[in-house]
Amino acid sequence: MKTMNGVYIFMCLFCYVTKISATLPNLFKISMVSSETNPTRPATYAHGESPIWDPSTQSLYFVDVHQQNVHRLEYATGRIQTKHISYGQVNVVALIAGSKRLLVAVRSALYLLDWEITGDAALRLLTTFDQGMPDNVINEGRADAEGRFWAGTKGPQTGDDVVPDKASLYRVEQESFTQPRVMLRPVSISNGLVWSLNNSVLYYIDSPTQKIEAFDFDSVRGELTARRTIVDISNYGYEDAIPDGMTIDYKGHLWIALMFGGTVLHVDPDTRQVVYGYKIPASRVTSVCWGGPNLDELFVTTGRDRLESTLEPLAGAIFTIRDTGSRGVQPNLFKFDNADLY
Ligand SMILES: *[C@@H]1O[C@H](CO)[C@@H](O)[C@H](O)[C@H]1NC(C)=O
Repeated sequence: MKTMNGVYIFMCLFCYVTKISATLPNLFKISMVSSETNPTRPATYAHGESPIWDPSTQSLYFVDVHQQNVHRLEYATGRIQTKHISYGQVNVVALIAGSKRLLVAVRSALYLLDWEITGDAALRLLTTFDQGMPDNVINEGRADAEGRFWAGTKGPQTGDDVVPDKASLYRVEQESFTQPRVMLRPVSISNGLVWSLNNSVLYYIDSPTQKIEAFDFDSVRGELTARRTIVDISNYGYEDAIPDGMTIDYKGHLWIALMFGGTVLHVDPDTRQVVYGYKIPASRVTSVCWGGPNLDELFVTTGRDRLESTLEPLAGAIFTIRDTGSRGVQPNLFKFDNADLY
């Protein structure tokens, strides 16, 4: 395994996690989550996405988009469970406050998913986005502090190309959940979204813009104003990459997956500076989230869709970055009372 500084190190950490040590310039460590049955090889996914840490079960949920799978990685044992959904691509999995059910986006609809129920009955349809646009899909979603769920779509896609300006960002709240409200239109690939720690700013990514943007956020009314650019990644040598999933740390800094860029970018949004770019040994870096018992491991999902497999043997693995000197905050949960009975 070739590490950042060119030294080959390959060792087993514990159970199912294989660790690559990278020593420049910080003391951070990048690891791969390995397959249970074969600890010397990473488990890889065609298109890993939407990692979320569930503190109550100490596990990581994520999806494999085109395989239509939701996966659950149990942190302590490395065991991976899979829930297959045969309704089309699955881009988002999210936690619901006070419920054992999950919120999932399948094609252009949001459903509640019950892990314990087999077959189609596990899915309970909540609402559908972009009606009349059958090739659009929900691409990314996140709850705000009030428990409203914000999710955006992506236009029709062929290979890696997406038709621009066909998608929207929506807001869903329990009182009116069958009628998602358009918050931003048009967008092309609605992606990473996260709120500042004081809840007065929404950071947002429409991937093809190559920008991390910000809005003033009125948390009571749930409204957006004053759109502006925080960082344009094409100014930092990432001309060929697009920003994808994003999370925030306890300092209010942003951590952004760079699709096609093989990098996780650490950005200070107040100074509008890139603090550091963490090189990941896979070019298709899709999303990030903080997890682990102390919320100080950054989980990174990647993909191997449309890649020649021999070019990037680790493409599609789930990585963790440890010892970055940072950690996450408790994520917001979608509020949907009595979700278990819906
Ligand atoms: C809230 O946090 C953002 C991001 O750190 C900052 O730009 C803004 O000034 C803060 N607002 C207040 C009222 O402190």
